[in-house]
Amino acid sequence: MIIETAMKKFFLFLSQNRTLNRAAKKWGLRFGAHRFVAGETIREAINKVRELNKQGLVCTLDHLGEFVSSREEAVEAADYCIRTLDAIHAARVKSNLSLKLTQLGLDIDRDLCRVNMQRILERAKKYGNFVRIDMEDYSHCQITIDLLRELRREYSNVGTVIQAYLYRAEKDVETLRGVPLRLVKGAYKESPEVTYPDKKDVDENYKRIIKAHLLSGSHTAVATHDDKIIEFTKQLVARYNIPRHRFEFQMLYGIRPQSQLELVRQGYTMRVYVPYGNDWYGYFMRRLAERPANVAFVLKGMLVK
Ligand code: FDA
Repeated sequence: MIIETAMKKFFLFLSQNRTLNRAAKKWGLRFGAHRFVAGETIREAINKVRELNKQGLVCTLDHLGEFVSSREEAVEAADYCIRTLDAIHAARVKSNLSLKLTQLGLDIDRDLCRVNMQRILERAKKYGNFVRIDMEDYSHCQITIDLLRELRREYSNVGTVIQAYLYRAEKDVETLRGVPLRLVKGAYKESPEVTYPDKKDVDENYKRIIKAHLLSGSHTAVATHDDKIIEFTKQLVARYNIPRHRFEFQMLYGIRPQSQLELVRQGYTMRVYVPYGNDWYGYFMRRLAERPANVAFVLKGMLVK
C-alpha cells in the first residue's frame, strides 16, 4: 500500500514534467503508451473508432495536448478539434469530442479560449455532435464551470466533468442540474484541503453524485472501471426506472476492454474515451499513476518499441 501510494505520487509528479513532455513528442508512442493511446494521427484514431463501433461501442475522441503556452498553439489546438469533428463526420463513425480548456488557451487569455470553444461548438452543432470539456486540476475547476455556463447560454451541445474526490462536487452537481455531466473519481494530485484524502470517502461521494444527477433527470455519464460503482449504477437505474438513453457508462481506451464489451452485451451504452496525438506523455503518466501494476507494460515497452 505504501509502495503503491509512493508510485502514484511519483507518476503524477512525472506527468507534470514539461521537459519530458516536450521530449516525448519526438519519440513516437513508446514504453507501452500505444496500449492507452489510439495512435498519433487522426487517421489512425478514426480507424480505431471504426473498429470499436463495429463491436457496439461508441467513442469520444480526444486530441491530446498539454502545457499550451502561446496563442498560436491554442488556436492550432482548436483547429485540431475542428479537424477531428470533420473527420468523425466524414467517416460517419459514432464518436463525440472531448477536450481540455487549457489546450485552447485558458491560462493565456480566457477570451481566446472562449472564442476557440465557440468555433468548435459551432462546427459540432453543424454536425449534430456533442463536445465534453474534461475537468483538469483544481486550480481550473471554477473557471471551467464558469466558462461552461457562458457557453451553455448559446450552445446546448456542451457538457463537462465533475470529480468525486472534490469536497465541492455535490454542490457543483446540484447547480449544474440539466447539464450533461460525466462523473469521475478524479485523476490529479490535489491537496487534502480540497479533496477527500481517503479513497473510501471518494467512492461514497461518487455514489452520492451519481444518484443526484441521475435522479435530477439530467444526462449522466458514469466514467469508471470500478465494478462496484458500475453495479451501484445498474441497480439505481433499475430501481428508479431510468431509461437507457438518459445515461451511459464510459471507460478509457485500452482499460478493461472485456468489461466494456460485456456492458454492451447487457444493452448499456458504453462510450470509450479514445485519445490520440503525439502529446501522449502526461496522459500516459496519469494512467500509470492510477494503476502502478501497469508499470509492467512500461518495462516491456522499453524492450520493444
Ligand atoms: P479506481 O481507480 O478505483 O479503479 C477501479 C478498478 O479499475 C481498479 O481496481 C482496476 O481494476 C481498474 N483500473 C483503474 N484504472 C486502471 C488503469 N489505468 N489500468 C488498468 N486498470 C485500471 N479524471 C479527471 O480528473 N478529469 C476528467 O475529465 C476525466 N475524464 C475521464 C473520462 C473517462 C471516460 C474515464 C473512464 C475516466 C476519466 N478520468 C478523468 C479519470 C478518473 O478520474 C479516474 O482517475 C480513473 O477513471 C480511475 O478511477 P476508476 O473510477 O476507474 O476507479
